[in-house]
Amino acid sequence: MAFELKVLLFIIVVAVFTSFADGDENGGQIEALLKWKNSLENPSPASLFSWDISSNSSFSPCEKWVGIICDDGFVNIIHINLTSMGLKGMLQNFDFVSFPELVTLDLSNNSLYGVIPKSIGMLANLKILYVNANHFSGSIPSAIGNLTKLKGLHLSLNHLSCNIPKEIGLIASLVDLKLPMNNLSGSLPAEITNLTSRKILLMGNNRLSGYLPDSICSGGLLERLSVHTNRFIVLNKLK
Ligand SMILES: *[C@@H]1O[C@H](CO)[C@@H](O)[C@H](O)[C@H]1NC(C)=O
Ligand SMILES: *[C@@H]1O[C@H](CO)[C@@H](O)[C@H](O)[C@H]1NC(C)=O
Ligand SMILES: *[C@@H]1O[C@H](CO)[C@@H](O)[C@H](O)[C@H]1NC(C)=O
Ligand SMILES: *[C@@H]1O[C@H](CO)[C@@H](O)[C@H](O)[C@H]1NC(C)=O
Ligand SMILES: *[C@@H]1O[C@H](CO)[C@@H](O)[C@H](O)[C@H]1NC(C)=O
Ligand SMILES: *[C@@H]1O[C@H](CO)[C@@H](O)[C@H](O)[C@H]1NC(C)=O
Repeated sequence: MAFELKVLLFIIVVAVFTSFADGDENGGQIEALLKWKNSLENPSPASLFSWDISSNSSFSPCEKWVGIICDDGFVNIIHINLTSMGLKGMLQNFDFVSFPELVTLDLSNNSLYGVIPKSIGMLANLKILYVNANHFSGSIPSAIGNLTKLKGLHLSLNHLSCNIPKEIGLIASLVDLKLPMNNLSGSLPAEITNLTSRKILLMGNNRLSGYLPDSICSGGLLERLSVHTNRFIVLNKLK
């Protein structure tokens, strides 16, 4: 056999073997979820019992895994909803890059801590990001401005500090922004008025300061606004 042919065969064999070893037609998404599950403080949380490919050959994460919903072709995971699952751990090992089609990520009401990684900005199709009621700390990553399709962003009830990044103004589609009960400081970025679809804007119980722009209610869509328990200076009567 010619050397080139052997090399070619070797490459094919390796490629085929690797794709079987992956056991994953979902583009590495299942591996990414298992890797994250294994990084949790209790690596086998009872609530994620169904997240297992070893125990049963007839597995299908799209059908059997709790909190996981795939697209119609069972190719991409589009919704991840792990609210109130008693999860304790960090997001450092969550490979956001594996989920380009993800629409929903609901991790609310768990015991997740550490920073919200800037790689979350890779979730280009995300519409819902709920990580409220956890123990996240550090600042809101400016990469959040990359999530240009986001409609709902719930960060309430964490330990987030520092300024609200001005990049938040890049999320023109944002309807519902909830930031209460954190430790956010600095002034409200003027870019907040770039959120022309805003209906709900909650930021009570932080350490925000400076002038509250009187254009905050502009646009005509705002239904709920809360700014209480901060250090704002109100320049004009809100209109
Ligand atoms: C595989 O699943 C079947 C039914 O869903 C169950 O009866 C069986 O115990 C499972 N096997 C293992 C090894 O978990
Ligand atoms: C996640 O699931 C819970 C029920 O378990 C539901 O109440 C909640 O609305 C879901 N989150 C999203 C973003 O759909
Ligand atoms: C939060 O999750 C816990 C379980 O970890 C549950 O008992 C509690 O009812 C949840 N709270 C809300 C508001 O969903
Ligand atoms: C922002 O999105 C682009 C395209 O989806 C991606 O290439 C880039 O790495 C993202 N940046 C961050 C900080 O996530
Ligand atoms: C806010 O909107 C203005 C124009 O409407 C635009 O020039 C600016 O880049 C936007 N800034 C951000 C941070 O979105
Ligand atoms: C808020 O941040 C300040 C320092 O910036 C710190 O002293 C304080 O303990 C923090 N409060 C909470 C509730 O995390």
